[in-house]
Amino acid sequence: DTATDTKSEDTNAAGDTIVVGFSQVGAESDWRTANTESMKTTFTEENGYTLLFDDAQQKQENQIKAVRNFIQQDVDYIVIAPVTETGWDTVLKEAKDAGIPVIIVDRMVDVSDDSLYEAWVGSNFLQEGYDAADWLAEYLDKQQRSAEDINIVTLQGTIGASAQIGRTDGVEEKMKEHTNWTMLERQTGEFTQAKGQEVMESFLKSYDDIDVVIAENDNMAFGAIDAIKAAGKTCGPNGDIIILSFDAVAAAFDSMIAGDMNVSIECNPLHGPRVAELIQKLEKGETVDKIAYVEEGIFPADTAAEIKPTRAY
Ligand code: AHR
Repeated sequence: DTATDTKSEDTNAAGDTIVVGFSQVGAESDWRTANTESMKTTFTEENGYTLLFDDAQQKQENQIKAVRNFIQQDVDYIVIAPVTETGWDTVLKEAKDAGIPVIIVDRMVDVSDDSLYEAWVGSNFLQEGYDAADWLAEYLDKQQRSAEDINIVTLQGTIGASAQIGRTDGVEEKMKEHTNWTMLERQTGEFTQAKGQEVMESFLKSYDDIDVVIAENDNMAFGAIDAIKAAGKTCGPNGDIIILSFDAVAAAFDSMIAGDMNVSIECNPLHGPRVAELIQKLEKGETVDKIAYVEEGIFPADTAAEIKPTRAY
């Protein structure tokens, strides 16, 4: 839109930096730390940017406040990693009315009018859920356990976050193909290690026949592993409980190498350069893809030692 174009041109012509306001979810996980690092090392003065960074401590109300602040400061771009999908219409409309383009990164927003943001880049969380369930089916098959009754518990992420919704739904859909799999219980561990441990402790008190833990991120899996060990049980490829997780951060590779975790489904946090590319294209008036999914892999324990040195986060 014209208001925005004129503003960007003016700042660039003056030799100034492009001012980017970034509203980050929080610092709840290793993944999030890697994501923040990627944004901070990309949006530097050296690269022609001024980054205004806000950590919302996992609260949407803080994110909305931050976005309103960015609007008041008349930044050139607003980038949001939204905590949950809903509740964004009003503040995004305010940004649009102010002529400030918005880029959504990582999790998605669920808005009635998709012209409220320019573009989204992030993970295909539903596919990650499918991949997790398919990996489990194959693993059980290799262990000649595909006909056994399998009891699963899930540590869910922040309820209403795309990463939670997609992973939960993906696994649930695939469970229809495995009538011998039972989901004993799902509960949120808020994507944190401490809450993951706490919820796992309560699962272990309620059920003595857990075969599989699905942790919707690595940090909750680390907490679950601590709870399992404290309860005198074992996990990982040579243990009693299969640990399946998401993100594939460096510490997950260590956990797999140590024999505690069975697999981590990748979620790539290195979005800084991807967001910068979108901004550069918008600066030139080029069109950008509205939705862009990043490519991701599946990392089981038996490949962890070999793969770990090649990982960037
Ligand atoms: O939205 C991505 C998710 O958020 C990651 O899986 C998790 O670790 C982070 O907190």
